[in-house]
Amino acid sequence: MDFYVETLFPEQVDSFLRSSITGRALEKGIISLECVNIRDHAINDYGKVDDTMYGGGTGMLMQCGPVYDCWKSVVDKRGGKKPHTVYVSPKGSVFDQAKARELSQKDSLLIICGHYEGIDSRVIDEICDEEISIGDFVLTGGEIAAVTMIDCISRMIPGVLPSEDAYTNESHMSGTLEQRQYTKPSVWHDRAVPEVLMSGNQAAIDEYNRISSLVETWQKRPDMLADIKISEEDWEKMLAMQKGLC
Ligand SMILES: C[S@@+](CC[C@H](N)C(=O)[O-])C[C@H]1O[C@@H](n2cnc3c(N)ncnc32)[C@H](O)[C@@H]1O
Repeated sequence: MDFYVETLFPEQVDSFLRSSITGRALEKGIISLECVNIRDHAINDYGKVDDTMYGGGTGMLMQCGPVYDCWKSVVDKRGGKKPHTVYVSPKGSVFDQAKARELSQKDSLLIICGHYEGIDSRVIDEICDEEISIGDFVLTGGEIAAVTMIDCISRMIPGVLPSEDAYTNESHMSGTLEQRQYTKPSVWHDRAVPEVLMSGNQAAIDEYNRISSLVETWQKRPDMLADIKISEEDWEKMLAMQKGLC
């Protein structure tokens, strides 16, 4: 998958994504990343990309011209092929695992990062396919949103993680949170790992983990249970497990 990030701060995006798992995926060529600097398309020699707002208001707004020309430079480089284009903004629909999975099916994704008070609405209307937020809060710029999305989407691209299991069994993939997890030592500060997990009985372990996942969801994100039908028998097992944890 080809990622493009249109930004005033390419080094912020590059430095994060060129390390760890996404860095290795970039080195192996499983994904590609090009950060394009909006300031290279400034309207004058002083690098001007923003101006005051019509109708007043505090702060500056990024202008249509530089944002459009920067986007067009990518489209031209791709022989006129438009990448799926997203403006990251607190006004967008909120990003989640389902949206990440949907975007991971695209062959290219261009993310436009705003700064200051944001971007003139007209250029967003003209070039963006959708507007996405990473949560109901306001950041200084779109770069953190862009790296968040690219990191999450990349995990679902074949070859980026060692196996599909590495992400399919995780929280939010099937409407619940992941089960509680433990590693060595088996006892730490008088807290013992549940015996069943060391029993070697895979069916019992799978069942324990299934109920543990429901308990985690119930305790930490009860709102998610609204979409799940839980049998009476499972509720009894969940109550028993929860009692054992307290
Ligand atoms: C200070 S914000 C502008 C906020 C805008 N004036 C508003 O009230 O909707 C500057 C830039 O940060 C990015 N940004 C801020 N919060 C975001 C969020 N929750 N999700 C995605 N991008 C965000 C956007 O690209 C935005 O253009």
